[in-house]
Amino acid sequence: MKKNIILMGPPGAGKGTLAKQLISLGMTHISTGDMFREEISNQTELGKLAASYINAGHLVPDEVTIKMLQNRLAKPDCENGFLLDGFPRTLAQAEALEGMSKEINRPIETVISLTCDEEELIKRISGRRVCKVCGAPYHIVNMKPKQEGICDKCGGELYQRKDDNVESLKVRLQHYTVDTAPLLSFYSKKGLIVEFNSLVDSGTLFDEVKKFLLS
Ligand code: AP5
Repeated sequence: MKKNIILMGPPGAGKGTLAKQLISLGMTHISTGDMFREEISNQTELGKLAASYINAGHLVPDEVTIKMLQNRLAKPDCENGFLLDGFPRTLAQAEALEGMSKEINRPIETVISLTCDEEELIKRISGRRVCKVCGAPYHIVNMKPKQEGICDKCGGELYQRKDDNVESLKVRLQHYTVDTAPLLSFYSKKGLIVEFNSLVDSGTLFDEVKKFLLS
C-alpha cells in the first residue's frame, strides 16, 4: 500500500472528508488547518497569531507552519505512514518537506490532487458544518446529520467555521491559485501526482482513492 501521502485541492474540495475516511487504512491524518484550530481553541500564542490570518482567509506564515509540521512529523505515530491534508501550500513549504521527509527517511510516495469546480466549492463551503468535539464534517444539504446541529458520531454540537464566509473564501481561493496550485507541477515533475474528480459522492470518491492506494 502507498504510504506518506499528500492530499491537495482547493478549499471545499473534500480533503478533510476523504482524509477522515482514509484513516481506516491505518495512516495518521495530519491536517495543519485542524492543528491551527486546536491552538485557537486553546487560546495559545500560536493560536492567536494563526487566527489573525485564518479568519481573513490568508495563509499562516511559512516559518510558523513549517516548524509546527516538523514537530508533528517527528512523532512516533507517523512511522506507519502519514496523510498530509493542507500541507504543503507554498513552494517554500514543499521544499522544506523534501528535507524533513529525507531526515526521517519517509519519502512522499504519492500526491492526490482533488479537482472541483468553483461553483460547487462555494456551495460546499457555505453549507459546511463541523463537530466542535471530534471535527467530523457535515453539510446542510449534501451530508446532513441525522439530527440537526448534532454530530452522528459523538453527539457533539455542530458549528460553522469563522473562515467559511464568502469574503474569506474568495481570499482562500486566490491563495490556492497563486501559492498552492503551482505545486501541482512541482510534484508532477517528480511523477507523484494522481488526480481525482471530487464531483462525486464522498463514498464513491473514497472507494476510488482506496483502490488506487491499495494497488
Ligand atoms: P484548512 O482547514 O486546510 O482548510 P482548506 O484547505 O481551506 O480546506 P477546507 O477544510 O475548507 O476544505 P476541505 O477540502 O477539507 O473540504 P471538506 O472535506 O471539509 O485550512 C484552513 C486555514 O488554515 C487556511 O485557510 C490557512 O489560513 C491555514 N492553513 C492551514 N494549513 C496551512 C499551511 N500549510 N500554510 C499556511 N496556512 C495554513 O468538505 C467541504 C464540505 O463539502 C463539507 O461540508 C463536506 O460535508 C462537503 N463534502 C465533502 N466531500 C463531498 C463530496 N464528495 N460530495 C458532496 N459534498 C462533499
